[in-house]
Amino acid sequence: MRAADFGTDFTWGVASAAWQVEGAWDLHGKRPSVWDEAGRRGRIAGGRVGDDAIDFYHRYPEDIALIKELGFGANRFSISWPRIMGDGDGPPNQKGIDFYHRVIDACLEAGIEPWATVHHWDMPQALYAKGGWGQRAVIEPFARLAEVCADAFGDKVKHWMVFNEPASVASHLLIGGYGRRGLYPRHTLRCVHHMNLATAEAGRRMRAILPAGSQIGTTNIITLARPYEPTDERTRRRKAAIEALTSDMFIDPAGGLGYPFEKNRLLRWMEPAILDGDLEAATFRFDFMGLQYYGPLVLKPTGIPLVGAIPSFSLPDPEVKLRSDIGIPADPEGLYHVLRRYAAHPAADRLHVTESGLGLRDRVHDGEIHDDVRIWYVREHLRSVLRAKQEGVPVDGFFHWSYADNIEWFFGRRPRFGLVYVDYDDGFRRIPKQSARWFQGFLAGAEA
Ligand code: BGC
Repeated sequence: MRAADFGTDFTWGVASAAWQVEGAWDLHGKRPSVWDEAGRRGRIAGGRVGDDAIDFYHRYPEDIALIKELGFGANRFSISWPRIMGDGDGPPNQKGIDFYHRVIDACLEAGIEPWATVHHWDMPQALYAKGGWGQRAVIEPFARLAEVCADAFGDKVKHWMVFNEPASVASHLLIGGYGRRGLYPRHTLRCVHHMNLATAEAGRRMRAILPAGSQIGTTNIITLARPYEPTDERTRRRKAAIEALTSDMFIDPAGGLGYPFEKNRLLRWMEPAILDGDLEAATFRFDFMGLQYYGPLVLKPTGIPLVGAIPSFSLPDPEVKLRSDIGIPADPEGLYHVLRRYAAHPAADRLHVTESGLGLRDRVHDGEIHDDVRIWYVREHLRSVLRAKQEGVPVDGFFHWSYADNIEWFFGRRPRFGLVYVDYDDGFRRIPKQSARWFQGFLAGAEA
C-alpha cells in the first residue's frame, strides 16, 4: 500500500479540537466553557490541565511548521465557542476571531488547507447554566456562532464541519458529565433532538453566507456493533437497536429519514421534544459526512438487549487483541464497515474519515518514542479505507487523531493520541514519535 493508491485528490490531514490543545483559557476575552468548568470542579484527571492544554494558542506557528514537515496537506481544528462568542449571547470577540485568522493564515502560508469545525463540545458555561442543549433556545446562539464563523473566515476556509460527534456530547449528558452526576436518558434524548435541529439550522445559515464551492460537512463518531454482518434475526435486531442510539439518531434526520423509532423503543422518550415541522427543520443535505471511528461495540449475551452494548467496551473479549489506554478495542476492519454503511446515505454525498487514532501511554526512551503499535493501528485502518475506496465507496480523505498529544477530556493528559509527543515536564516540548516519521515516509511515497 502506498499513499498514491488513494489517488492524487485524496486529502491527508491531522485533527484536533480547541479545548484539547489551545490553553489560554481566559486570555483576550475568552469566557469559560463547560470543560473549563469541569476542570475547576475536579472532573478531569489531573485537574485544570485544560487551562494550558498544550499551549497551541502560543505555539501554533511551530505546530503548523511541523505538520507541514510531516507532509500533511490539511489541518482540521475547531473554533472555541466562548473564545469568539464570549458567554454565547453577546457580540463577537474580535480578539478571539483574530487568533483564528492567525492560525488559518499560518496554514495557508504553509500550503496546508485549514478545515474548520464550528463546534467541538466547548459550549460556553453560561449557556449551559441556562439549560444548554436541553432548551430549544440554544439553537439560535448556535446558529449565530456558525454565521459569525462563516462571515469571518469564509473567504479563507473552504471545508467546514458543523458539529463534532453529537453522540459523544450525548454520552456526557447521559451521565451528567459536567453537571450533576446521575443518569439522564430522557433529558439526553431531548438534547439530541436540539443538537440535530441546531446542526441543520447552522448548515443552512452557513450555506447562505459561504462562497460558492465551499464544502459544508459535519462529523459523527460511528460505533457499530460486532458482528458486522449478523446472520441470525435476533442478533440483527439487537445490533439495529444499539446502532439506532449510537449512530442513526444523529445522522438519519439530516438525510430526511426522521428518527429510527421502530428500531429502538427507548427513542420514544424523545417524542415530547419533537414539535410540528421539526423533522423537516432537522433535514440538511451535507456536502460531506466526516466519519470518525475508534472501535466497535461487541454484542454480548447480557440478556438486556437494548443496553447490552454499553458495558461491552470493558468486558473481556478473546477476539480483541489490543485496547487503547482507555479501553477501546482496536478492530481496523470495522472502519471498512463504517464506510460501507454510509456509502450511499441521503445525509451526504461524499465521505471523509475525519478522525482515527490510538490513545496509548507513550513514554520517552533515550529521547525517542517507540510507538510501533500505533504504526500498526494506522496502517491497518488505512488498509480498510483503501479497500472501501477500491470497492467504490466515495471516501476522499483521512485525518489522523491527533497531530500532537493533548487533553483527552475527562481522562486529562493520560491517553496520548498524538503523532507528536508533548513533554509536559519540559515546557510542552514537541517530540515527533516513531509514528510521525513513519507517516512522513508514507506520505512521501514509501510502501507501508
Ligand atoms: C473526539 C476527540 C477525542 C477522540 C479520542 C473523538 O471522540 O472527537 O475529541 O479526543 O475521540 O477519544
